[in-house]
Amino acid sequence: MSRTVTRLRDGWKFTRTDNPAHPNPDFDDSAWTSVRVPHDWAIAGPFDREHDRMTQARKQADVEAGVQEITGRTGGLPHVGVGWYRLRFNVPAEAAGKQFRLEVDGSMSNCTVYCNGTHVGGWPCGYTSFALDLTSVVQLGRENVLAVRLENLPESSRWYPGAGLYRNVRLVVLHPVHVAHWGTYLTTPTLTDKEGTVSLETTIRNAGPETAVTLRTAIHDRNGTMVCMEETTRSLSGVETIRQDFIVPDPQRWDPEAPNLYTAVSTVRVAGETVDRYETPFGFRSLDFDPDKGFFINGRSLKLKGVCMHHDLGPLGAAVNVAALRRQLHMLQDMGCNAIRTSHNPPTPELLDLCDRMGLLVIDEAFDEWALPKMTNGYNLLFQDWAEKDLRAMIKRDRNHPCLILWSIGNEIPEQNSPQGADVAQFLCDICKDEDPTRLTTAGFNQADGAIRNGLAAAVDVPGWNYKANCYVEFHTLFPDKPTYGSETESTYSSRGEYFFPANEEIGPFRVPHHVSSYDNEFPNWGYSPDVEFRAQDECPFSLGAFVWTGFDYLGEPTPFSEAWPSRSSYFGIIDLAGLPKDRYFLYQSTWSQTPVLHLLPHWTWPGREGETTPVHCYTNFSSAELFVNGVSQGRRRKSVKMVTGAYRLVWPGVRYQPGELKVVAYDRDGAVAAETVIRTAGEAAAVELLPDRQAMAADGDGMIFITAQIVDKDGNPCPRADHGLSVEIEGPGTLEGLCNGDPTSLESFKGSRMRAFNGKCVLYLGSVDGRPGDIRVTVSADGLRSGQISLESR
Ligand code: GAL
Repeated sequence: MSRTVTRLRDGWKFTRTDNPAHPNPDFDDSAWTSVRVPHDWAIAGPFDREHDRMTQARKQADVEAGVQEITGRTGGLPHVGVGWYRLRFNVPAEAAGKQFRLEVDGSMSNCTVYCNGTHVGGWPCGYTSFALDLTSVVQLGRENVLAVRLENLPESSRWYPGAGLYRNVRLVVLHPVHVAHWGTYLTTPTLTDKEGTVSLETTIRNAGPETAVTLRTAIHDRNGTMVCMEETTRSLSGVETIRQDFIVPDPQRWDPEAPNLYTAVSTVRVAGETVDRYETPFGFRSLDFDPDKGFFINGRSLKLKGVCMHHDLGPLGAAVNVAALRRQLHMLQDMGCNAIRTSHNPPTPELLDLCDRMGLLVIDEAFDEWALPKMTNGYNLLFQDWAEKDLRAMIKRDRNHPCLILWSIGNEIPEQNSPQGADVAQFLCDICKDEDPTRLTTAGFNQADGAIRNGLAAAVDVPGWNYKANCYVEFHTLFPDKPTYGSETESTYSSRGEYFFPANEEIGPFRVPHHVSSYDNEFPNWGYSPDVEFRAQDECPFSLGAFVWTGFDYLGEPTPFSEAWPSRSSYFGIIDLAGLPKDRYFLYQSTWSQTPVLHLLPHWTWPGREGETTPVHCYTNFSSAELFVNGVSQGRRRKSVKMVTGAYRLVWPGVRYQPGELKVVAYDRDGAVAAETVIRTAGEAAAVELLPDRQAMAADGDGMIFITAQIVDKDGNPCPRADHGLSVEIEGPGTLEGLCNGDPTSLESFKGSRMRAFNGKCVLYLGSVDGRPGDIRVTVSADGLRSGQISLESR
């Protein structure tokens, strides 16, 4: 019998009260709330400006000095404080002699775990995965009780951290002889078209007396065919590492264009009996970071077209859901994105599994803070005692993933300006090399002068530059032996479907109702528009590429309205919090991908603006296009490298608004019509239209369908400003897991069944029920409108 892995998903009890009696096995938790894990205790709200309210000294030169009150920085959600979870689980008497291990992928935060009343361990950092040995406390043939205490401190995060057991938890039952936790380390030292070599170190733990152990490792290709095999027998006690080497003929490369995965299948035998089986997916690929020529994968030059991503999933909060993660990654990939920076913490392990399978490259980032604080109760409180443990845990867990290209030891750490900066960086880089000498290290620097002066930038293999598009040449000259890239760029912000005039007006901090223009020309004083970064990358062939801040909107950090409640989530995303693309999505898609793009903005429903100047922008990868208002040509525009903006988008600045039809026609090189896009002035809102992203989902309790509810007029034209209150009704085996309209100022709960449309749209996150397949009918109604109704399937 090999190991059994049980996801501890259902049956948890939860409370926000704190009591030292909670771990007692006979404590009565019947009044606690029943929850499933992953669970985020704060995401249902209510939103409140008092939650984790902070003050800070004003820094900007352009506003009066004094104290600044920051309201929505961590999302305005009730994540601060204590939460307890309890779970009863049975262990059969036949499990006598087994080892019991609890695996936690992440728990926010300051986790303490008890089993049957005994303290068994914990982990303070909420983003780190860890395992606890329960063997000595588990009771056979009866009910056992797990109790978990978590506590989020105020002023500990710069964004919404989530709260609770927000990632997966598993119980693993093992034979005394087994592959240890994160017990394989696999590298591919040499790679040619003819053969790839594999070096595998497998750590075996024997919790019993010394015995002869046979480790058999078979390498399987993506079809499951065994391509080579090694067997090693050794007398073994305690914890020992066995090294095996393999030669794989005709290795199929892992590549963003064809993410071929192999699997090393380890089986452990004792006295002829198979006692454990463990799989390590991996890939063959070569990575080159050339200081003069940029990034290469498998010998092919590739610009990193990356985005930074925080970990929350909008209306699901931090609670991990694979379907929601997959949807995010697909949207990014369709945009032409090929890389993710997991700003500023280790991600959930499922993200890396998905990136392995989908062919996205990843920078795993460990820290946003070292010993010097950004936040009063931030990671600085833990750095001294935990940095090494957290960093080793991240690398041990993640180093076999082919998608991973760099280890980032930090983002904008305040040590950039302290004399110890270089020493701390060296300490962290040494840990990276110790755990994984095959990958290079990086960090993101915003204080370039400081990090260069104190040697911090020189301490990492690949210095990353945050918001320095105009300095890449300078850095390249300064560090001729090191690659150059934009670890964090742009920070352009926008609210989906909001446009302000004049179109080139810069945002003032007091704009009401706290929205940012979707002309994509507003950014904080450290940021710039996408066009500037595109230009820098085009002019710097030596640059590896860049990582936009951010792919999706996230909860918290509502810059530029950090002082302006009810703003409570970011405006930086290329895609909004609901998962709806903003205009900017098409600007990236037109620049990064081969997909033909011909996207117009703004919308064309402006009652009261008749005759007024309403600039029209077109995001396109066609080189020229002509714009028409009600059939009247507004002129032809051609992309021009001479202009920064005009090089990446076409602009008609002087168009006068008239209701009717706005049409753009793109021409090919021979002047023939290649494509056209039309938007029409919408009439009165008449109906709700439902657009699901798929027809069916898995009836496993994890499957999801994402349905966009859109308000349209009687002819089906989207009503771009509609804000009707929508009510959702679900019949059949489906659950409404979240509602989100993408409005960063909305204080309606994500977990209710009603929400207003924001600029004509709202997204329903429909979940499945485990073990209950069947048809689901979804109805969305609004006063005065024809309801939208669709039938979907859970199977
Ligand atoms: C950067 C920082 C990010 C985010 C961003 C907003 O300086 O690294 O975490 O705060 O600014 O523009």
